[in-house]
Amino acid sequence: MNIVLLGPPGAGKGTQAARLQAQRGMIQMSTGDMLREAVAKGSPVGIEAKAVMAAGKLVSDAIVSALIGERLDAAGTHGAIFDGFPRTREQAEALDLLLSERDRSLDYVIELEVEEDALVRRIVGRFTCANCCAPYHDEYARPLTEGVCDQCGATEFVRRPDDNEATVRRRMAEYRAKTEPILPYYEQRGLVRRVDGMASVEQVAAQIDAILDS
Ligand code: AP5
Repeated sequence: MNIVLLGPPGAGKGTQAARLQAQRGMIQMSTGDMLREAVAKGSPVGIEAKAVMAAGKLVSDAIVSALIGERLDAAGTHGAIFDGFPRTREQAEALDLLLSERDRSLDYVIELEVEEDALVRRIVGRFTCANCCAPYHDEYARPLTEGVCDQCGATEFVRRPDDNEATVRRRMAEYRAKTEPILPYYEQRGLVRRVDGMASVEQVAAQIDAILDS
């Protein structure tokens, strides 16, 4: 099964994709994670993407589509969860081509419906363990012992450079202008399913599971 998780910044795409990978053996394909990895390595893609991401704008379609193509080959025939991709009509068409070249196709496009102001709070408050990347939040998910990672015991935490309010608003505007308009492309093929992204993580997970198991 191959699915797209669609939703604005902070909608919970990464949270649900990681869970599906852990529970169902599907492969999470997050273009945001791939780009952050490239930035950290200082590769040519990373150098090009760094300022674009920091400004909350979209990296070029050609770069992200190539990243997905490489990972699809590496992932073999396991089902894929596309997290943060596609984000434009061009990327949606590129994904169809990449899948059809491998005799695969999309099963569902799951849209996480959310409220913008709540998303800003979700994103601005989030941080991760610098060692094992366990996710935390200033309000909803603090470490059990202050300053110590529950998972690995590390004491350093990091925040994404694009997780400040001004950049988050810009990322939301990009989503509304360029990503939301691709929904009709999938709607006409009957692939879109909607879930309430404002529910708890567990409730969102249950809604997604019900779709995948239907
Ligand atoms: P990317 O990394 O994809 O970021 P994003 O889409 O802005 O999404 P986020 O990772 O911020 O949020 P999410 O929906 O995954 O939510 P999460 O699960 O983390 O992209 C970053 C940048 O890279 C882009 O701005 C762009 O520059 C570039 N880029 C990436 N892909 C691209 C592409 N295809 N084309 C062009 N450019 C691209 O959850 C957020 C927080 O909420 C967490 O703290 C979590 O614990 C919490 N949370 C999650 N679910 C719930 C819930 N149900 N209730 C309460 N809290 C919750």
